[in-house]
Amino acid sequence: MVVLRTGPVAVGGVTLGNHLILAAGVLGTTGASLSRMLARGAGGVVTKSIGPEPKNGHAGPCVAVLDNGILNAMGLPNPSQDFTGELGSLGQKPVIVSIFGGTPEEFAEVAGWFKGTAAGFELNLSCPHAEGYGAAIGVDPVLVEACTRAVSTLGMPTWVKLTPNVTDITAIGKAAERGGATAIVAINTVKAMRISTALRRPVLGNRYGGLSGDAIFPVAVRCVYELFESCKIPIIGCGGVSTADKVVEMMMAGAQAVEIGSAVQRDIGIFETITNELYAKKGIEPGEIVGCAHE
Ligand code: SIN
Repeated sequence: MVVLRTGPVAVGGVTLGNHLILAAGVLGTTGASLSRMLARGAGGVVTKSIGPEPKNGHAGPCVAVLDNGILNAMGLPNPSQDFTGELGSLGQKPVIVSIFGGTPEEFAEVAGWFKGTAAGFELNLSCPHAEGYGAAIGVDPVLVEACTRAVSTLGMPTWVKLTPNVTDITAIGKAAERGGATAIVAINTVKAMRISTALRRPVLGNRYGGLSGDAIFPVAVRCVYELFESCKIPIIGCGGVSTADKVVEMMMAGAQAVEIGSAVQRDIGIFETITNELYAKKGIEPGEIVGCAHE
């Protein structure tokens, strides 16, 4: 297997401790849990998505663990502006605040609360099951460009997390790029559902949810590969990454870093496990493999 040189990684305006980032929503609801993941090998962390108003989220059940993935419809629960208090203890650490809004103005308002405390922002334009938010905006290139611009003009690193639930993800990636994004994160969950045959009802309270985990890894690799051919800004791969070899595969598709989410649910020590296998002082220069599958 490819082994990479150890050292800090600069991606989309943020300096990370390594190529591995805790994905949004997974253990990102408190400063303590973000801090613990950094201490346990994550090179950077993304918070749970924060919006303009406090939100309780969808009625349960909100999560179903499947054989090869996780189905969730949390409904963007978050404490809104009160979350600013969680970041105080994290100092200059690579903490990226995931934000959502229903308009460019709301995105700018939420980002403004964290200017100065966050290392950067990740715009959630991709949650597949939140009315008026996430993918409801993220499938429209005009809105994606406007929301991205509303945040990028604050002068902070601005990552945009894309939905795979579109015909052409490159059109959305290019819209984010036009809006001033410093990186693209691909992908958020795939819209999905399961039905309980015993109950004769959808498993999730919201009926539809987003599928993450191993099952979506090939979808994520395909999206990263397509975006690499169309966009100039860095790409961060996300979706079903659970091993060092899958990190390498994402990088070969074109990712400069990767986010890990569902795999944390199975193994809280996943970042240590992967870093032990992926890095060595005498490893190769990571830039050698980024996008090498296109040559
Ligand atoms: C949720 O809170 O429902 C999940 C967020 C997301 O899919 O972006």
